[in-house]
Amino acid sequence: LIGSVAGAQVQDMPGGPKVNQLNLHEGVTAISRDIMWLHWMLLTICIVIFIGVFGVMFYSIWAHRKSRGHKAATFHEHLGVEVAWTVIPFIIVIAMALPATKTVVAMKDTSSADVTVKVTGYQWKWGYEYLDGQAAGIKFLSTLSTPRAQIENREPKGEFYLMEVDNHLVVPVNKKVRVVLTAADVIHSWMIPDFGVKQDAIPGFLRDAWFNADKPGIYRGQCAELCGKDHAFMPIVVEVLAQADYDKWVEDQKKKMAANADDPNKEWTEAELVARGEKVFAANCVACHQANGKGIPGSFPPLDGDKVVLGPKAEQINTVLKGKPGTAMAPFGGQLNDVEIAAVISYTRHAWSNAGKGQDPTVL
Ligand code: CUA
Repeated sequence: LIGSVAGAQVQDMPGGPKVNQLNLHEGVTAISRDIMWLHWMLLTICIVIFIGVFGVMFYSIWAHRKSRGHKAATFHEHLGVEVAWTVIPFIIVIAMALPATKTVVAMKDTSSADVTVKVTGYQWKWGYEYLDGQAAGIKFLSTLSTPRAQIENREPKGEFYLMEVDNHLVVPVNKKVRVVLTAADVIHSWMIPDFGVKQDAIPGFLRDAWFNADKPGIYRGQCAELCGKDHAFMPIVVEVLAQADYDKWVEDQKKKMAANADDPNKEWTEAELVARGEKVFAANCVACHQANGKGIPGSFPPLDGDKVVLGPKAEQINTVLKGKPGTAMAPFGGQLNDVEIAAVISYTRHAWSNAGKGQDPTVL
C-alpha cells in the first residue's frame, strides 16, 4: 500500500501476487478465499450503511434548512421507528456474524490432518519438524539466506525486497497440513497471507493452525509479531509440491539427513570437533556474536570491555544449553544435537585460547 501511494517501483514476487496491489491476496486455500469473500461482503454492507445514514443526514440538513422556513419537529415515543432501528441492525449483525463465525470455526478445526509439522520460532529463524507420516523425523532450520548487505543497500531504498531462506518448508498439494506452533525465546507469529494463516508462536504454549493449498508453488510470509532486532529478517517460505515431487523431496531429505548426521558414538578428534564447531558457530551464533566473537555494537556489547570472556567450561555449556535469563541468549539445547554442542564449545574455546596466545584472533 505504502509502495503504491509513494509511486515506488515495486517488484512483483516471482510466482506470487503483485505486492503493490491495494487488496488482500485471493490465496490458494478455501479458507483464504472465504476470508476474501467475507472481506468484500462486510465492506459492501458497511459502505451501503455509510452512504444510507450520511445520505439521509445531509439530505435532511440541506432540504429542511431554516432558511426555507422549516421548523424542528419535537416528538416522543414512536413504536414503529424504535422497532425498526432495533430489528434492522440486529438482522444485519446476524447476517454478518453467521458466515464469519462459520469461517472462524473452520479455521480452528485442525482435526484429521494429513501432515503435521511442528513450527518453532527462534530469534531470528524458524525451525520445522515433521511429526507424522512418511516425513516423520525430518527436521531443519529455515534461516534468511539473502545477504543482509544486499537487503540493506537495495536501490531504490523504498523498494520491497524478496528475502530468500536456506530451507523451504515443503508440503504436498491438496493435503490438510496442520502446523503446531511454539517459540523458544519470545513471541513470534507465523503468517502466510496466501493460505489465510496467521498464528502466534508463544514460548511455553502450543497453538495450531492448518491449510490445504490447492495450487503448487512458492508462498511467502513473514514473522508478524515484533520479536526483537531482526524481526524484519525472518521470512517464511513454503513450497507446495505435487504429491510425486513431495515424495521425492521426503526421500532426498532423509538421505541428506542420514549423510549429515553426527554420529555420537564416533570417537571425535579435537581437530574434527573444532572444524565441525566452526560451522555450527557460523550457522547459529554469528547473528549476535559476530565471527570474531565480540558483540554487535549497539545491540550486543562485548562481555568484558572489548574482550570476549567465555567463563568456566561447565558454565559455558550450561549457557549454551539453557540460554541466559535476562539476556537475548536463547537456549540451544533443543536446536543442536550433543555433537554440535560439544563441537561449538570446543571451537570457541580453541579459538579463544589461540587468540590469548598472541595468535591472530580471526575467528574469535
Ligand atoms: Cu519473529 Cu518477529
